[in-house]
Amino acid sequence: MATPRGEFTSRFGFLMAASGSAVGLGNIWGFPTNAASNGGAAFLFAYLILAFALAYPALMAELIIGRHARANAVTALQSISRGRKSKILALAVGFAGIVTVSFILSFYAIVSGWMIAHFFDPLARLAGLDALAQWLTEDAVVRNSLFVIIFMLLTVYIISAGVKDGIEKWASRLMPSLIVILILLILYVLTLPGAMEGMRAYLVPDFSRIADPALLVDAMGQAFFSLSLGVGTMLVYGSYISKRENLPVVGSLVALLDVGIAVMAGMLIIPAMYVAQSNGVEIYDASGGLIAGPGLIVSVLPSLFNSMGSVGILVAIAFFLLMTIASLTSSISMLEVPVAYSVEHHGVDRPKAAIILGAVVTVISLIIVFNFDPLFDLVVTYTTEISQPLLGFAFCIFVAWIWSRNEVLEEIRQGSPNVDAGIFWRVWPFYMKFICPLAILVVYFQ
Ligand code: PHE
Repeated sequence: MATPRGEFTSRFGFLMAASGSAVGLGNIWGFPTNAASNGGAAFLFAYLILAFALAYPALMAELIIGRHARANAVTALQSISRGRKSKILALAVGFAGIVTVSFILSFYAIVSGWMIAHFFDPLARLAGLDALAQWLTEDAVVRNSLFVIIFMLLTVYIISAGVKDGIEKWASRLMPSLIVILILLILYVLTLPGAMEGMRAYLVPDFSRIADPALLVDAMGQAFFSLSLGVGTMLVYGSYISKRENLPVVGSLVALLDVGIAVMAGMLIIPAMYVAQSNGVEIYDASGGLIAGPGLIVSVLPSLFNSMGSVGILVAIAFFLLMTIASLTSSISMLEVPVAYSVEHHGVDRPKAAIILGAVVTVISLIIVFNFDPLFDLVVTYTTEISQPLLGFAFCIFVAWIWSRNEVLEEIRQGSPNVDAGIFWRVWPFYMKFICPLAILVVYFQ
């Protein structure tokens, strides 16, 4: 318990870590496919509004609680609760967050493992190892298990090194690389035949869809998942921010980076699908919609890369490297939630906590790999569609109804002394009290 807590050493370090958590498979895969199946830019429009009106305030709630308590999710929620009942609720919500994020990591590691396998496929082909390449791209239990283990080893390695030497160091290296690769890929894909048609499908809005409840529910779920909300991730990262930092500003930078990268990913994925179509790859599923599920990433795009000749090999390497980086900077933030709790609450040392908890998550992942059909969708649905929004709701209640308003203001004032004169403080508390919880419930019950 006596070990000093880690802290991000600079604003840049925090921004890379938090946007690294936010930017993941949710942005590069989830967002473009959601947009493509929900009226293109109409979805984008709804997403932008929901991300800034609902997800950003909820992100701020987590950052503020975290930095105030300087502790893991369970301890932090308890420290802002007054009565016995709210302390019990704090314990329940904190634990539910830890369990939920561990299950999110267990399915995330499977998909991330596919990304690593597909990253090695073009390398194997370059080396003339065609049988290996074939094995790497075939969906089989042995391959999936092996790559889950590799991915979890990378995650555990980074987390065991701590906040500064693990999370901050790696996020500061990986996130800038991710942005550069993404931009290069977009520029390249846009030069190919068919890309402009994809750009049109993505950016020309079908506004007749905008009030469609399904679109709004998808956009809201997407925004919450994408900003890593409700499970204590941002709370724990917030607990490592310096007291000198201006929270409303860094929070909005994280939201901007997350949304910006999602929008950019759309400019890569959707045009790439149309390029694939003009190269003769099937991009519509049986029901006539664009292929959006795993087939998109592990079959449509690889077929596109294969049809591009030798440049295709480079593009495939760059693309799956991008996906692997995006996954890894998110997975470390997930593992940090239970690790921070074990280190602070039970005095376990960090590397040991990272290894044990990483092993537990790996075992759950392997159980899912071996029982993919019944379990995978079930775990995704329970964690992201049921647990995450409910916990997001609970965080709103904690910060707006349980915690004292003066203490909230006191916390934000550190690093932002005039915050109560600005627009943030005029709008945010009202939002957190009424709009956020109500909106989450409405969307939830849809
Ligand atoms: N935000 C990540 C993504 O978009 C996923 C995530 C969810 C990360 C919950 C941490 C916690 O892929």
